Amino acid sequence: MYKERILTGDRPTGALHLGHYVGSLQSRVELQNKYETFILIADVQALTDNFNNPDKIRKNIIELLKDYLAVGIDPKVSKIVLQSGIPQIAELTVFYSNLVTVNRLLRNPTVKSEIREKFADKNIPFGFLGYPVSQAADITSFMADLVPVGDDQLPMLEQTVEIVKSFNSIYGEVLKVPKPKLSKLPRLVGLDGKSKMSKSLGNTIRFADTLEDVKKKIMSMYTDPSRIHKNDPGHVVGNPVFIYHDAFNTNKDEVDELKELYTNGKIGDVEVKEKLFIALKEFLLPIQERRHSFDGREDYLYDILQEGTLFARDVAAKTLNAVKDAMKLIQYN
Ligand code: TRP
Repeated sequence: MYKERILTGDRPTGALHLGHYVGSLQSRVELQNKYETFILIADVQALTDNFNNPDKIRKNIIELLKDYLAVGIDPKVSKIVLQSGIPQIAELTVFYSNLVTVNRLLRNPTVKSEIREKFADKNIPFGFLGYPVSQAADITSFMADLVPVGDDQLPMLEQTVEIVKSFNSIYGEVLKVPKPKLSKLPRLVGLDGKSKMSKSLGNTIRFADTLEDVKKKIMSMYTDPSRIHKNDPGHVVGNPVFIYHDAFNTNKDEVDELKELYTNGKIGDVEVKEKLFIALKEFLLPIQERRHSFDGREDYLYDILQEGTLFARDVAAKTLNAVKDAMKLIQYN
């Protein structure tokens, strides 16, 4: 029986953090047995804004792979795929680039905010502007049904759907229209209370952080700014410490009790944070142990990547074949 497919991925530009976990990793782990799963290590996309830093990308491919395995992606079930190992994605990108305008790319909200952040002088590399097209190629090359992503990626999905519809209406119904899959918590606030946990804002807890660092980060977290004394009634809604409790503390009775005490001004921030650290330690420790178990086993990690990539290449080759046929291109094979 045909199993529906998942395609998702990350740029190998830095170790993953809790925001990635709640936004997408957790659902990938939960869904991997139900769907045929492809997880793309998007090194080509990472180069679009790191073309002058190839060492960084190379190093982070392995770090990312360790994060995947540590959180419970099972390489026997999910295919972990290196984007640059799938040349069909690059070919599809060229074909799709005719189906999108420069203005549309400039209007993509995620691209827009990245341009603001990274290319303030407006010297936008052609490749960077076009990365949503390449992401459409990622998704369609595996005929993905579902794409588990955080909410920052919704504009990419929207753009992919437009490209797919345009392709299908011009050349024939070849490509599948993918759907995004948002998790319960598609965006995690940062430690500083900013709307998003993000590497560039420096407000993350990463899987690779030591527990000492995690503790320090939690103890300096932003809480309820309107609360000055321990016996002031505190706000729980929108308070990052409680958002993290809800996301990571498996002891729901404790969380309810802490909320009650906090709302009534009967407990201090420090104690609530200490309890959060205990909960996070319980969550992170097994992940970190598994992560460390791959230290010094690079050959094993590269093998996993090669296996997933070679498998995926056959899948993408079938799609490219159908695409070229539909486009009336001559094929020599
Ligand atoms: N753009 C995603 C990010 O910045 C990474 C990515 C590349 C991706 N290709 C993808 C995500 C395909 C989902 C599907 O994290």
